[in-house]
Amino acid sequence: MRYWAFTGGFGYENLALHEAETPRPGPRDVLIEMRAAALNFRDLVVLNGQHGRAVQPPLIPLSDGVGIVVETGSEVRDLAPGDRVAPCFFQNWEGGGPPSDLEAARLGGPLDGVLCSHRVLPSGGVVRVPAHLSDTEAATLPCAGVTAWSALSGNVPVRPGETVLILGSGGVALMAVLLARAAGARTIVTTSSAERAERLRALGADEVIDRAATPDWASEVRALTGGAGVDRVLELGGARTLGDAIRSVRTGGQIILIGNVTGNKAEVFLPAVLTRQLTLRSVTVGSKEAFVAMNRALDQHRLHPVVGAVFGFDEAADAFRALEGQSVFGNICIRIVQDAD
Ligand SMILES: NC(=O)c1ccc[n+]([C@@H]2O[C@H](COP(=O)([O-])OP(=O)(O)OC[C@H]3O[C@@H](n4cnc5c(N)ncnc54)[C@H](OP(=O)(O)O)[C@@H]3O)[C@@H](O)[C@H]2O)c1
Repeated sequence: MRYWAFTGGFGYENLALHEAETPRPGPRDVLIEMRAAALNFRDLVVLNGQHGRAVQPPLIPLSDGVGIVVETGSEVRDLAPGDRVAPCFFQNWEGGGPPSDLEAARLGGPLDGVLCSHRVLPSGGVVRVPAHLSDTEAATLPCAGVTAWSALSGNVPVRPGETVLILGSGGVALMAVLLARAAGARTIVTTSSAERAERLRALGADEVIDRAATPDWASEVRALTGGAGVDRVLELGGARTLGDAIRSVRTGGQIILIGNVTGNKAEVFLPAVLTRQLTLRSVTVGSKEAFVAMNRALDQHRLHPVVGAVFGFDEAADAFRALEGQSVFGNICIRIVQDAD
């Protein structure tokens, strides 16, 4: 097998292509021939060695990918060679509430990820992916897709007619636009440029606010909702956006805490939360059950995740650089085999 790994440390200087013997599956495992992988913001945090002490080299990066089962262990009954599957981000979260050792079972750190030609995983840690998706589209599902799904489902699922504010146009945000729209919700999205605003409208966003042209986007959100505020905010920005997210939501509404692209330490004006009965709920990707439920919705609505750029397997470092540059609209993917679509 061929695989990319960080060895001796993190950073581009420690990311290299290696070769090893292809592993064999144990009795309850499957051997997957990987076809495509996708990058998430989190993978940059790993690249930069900032993902905490639990994530250490040697490490195969990336949690998101798709491949074909080529061999099953002797006790595997529910999967067969030829099945196209994606790994679950958490290898230990079947459904219901998260297990206490959740963080120990994340792919792409601390567990090896999927930027490799072959990967052995427990058969319970993978799901079949919808047939209408290309390999690169399906590769984006485990983290970006499931996170968007969890933010719109959970205890209080999004309902038709609800207004959802989504911050930014990253992988999670774009999938959230598609899923919220399919659920019959109205979407308002903030973004960084007029060009991205245009692309978001083409994707089906109902209202888009260019935050470069409208820095006080929270007031604009209020104006677009007749002064009331939105029902739900998908808070992907973190430190520098949480205050405005709170200003943007209606009394009794929900802030779904997902991301931290602008930093980790947020200051919150508590009366704005306490006097308006807001719910602040965090999302941590989601369970296998959530992944399966999302796949049904993607299938039903024939939704396609947005792929913005595709790199070859030998160009993995360029894919990381593209993510770092934030210039690609849509998910950044890697074709692991040349005939991946
Ligand atoms: N909790 C979880 O389970 C979970 C799961 C997945 C991701 N995340 C987190 O969610 C965040 C997004 O992840 P991703 O993989 O979707 O990221 P991504 O694809 O790298 O996209 C990041 C996006 O953030 C937007 N952005 C940059 N500065 C911003 C600002 N000041 N205000 C609002 N948006 C800004 C940009 O969109 P525009 O240029 O359009 O503004 C950019 O495209 C990250 O913090 C990631 O760690 C959390």
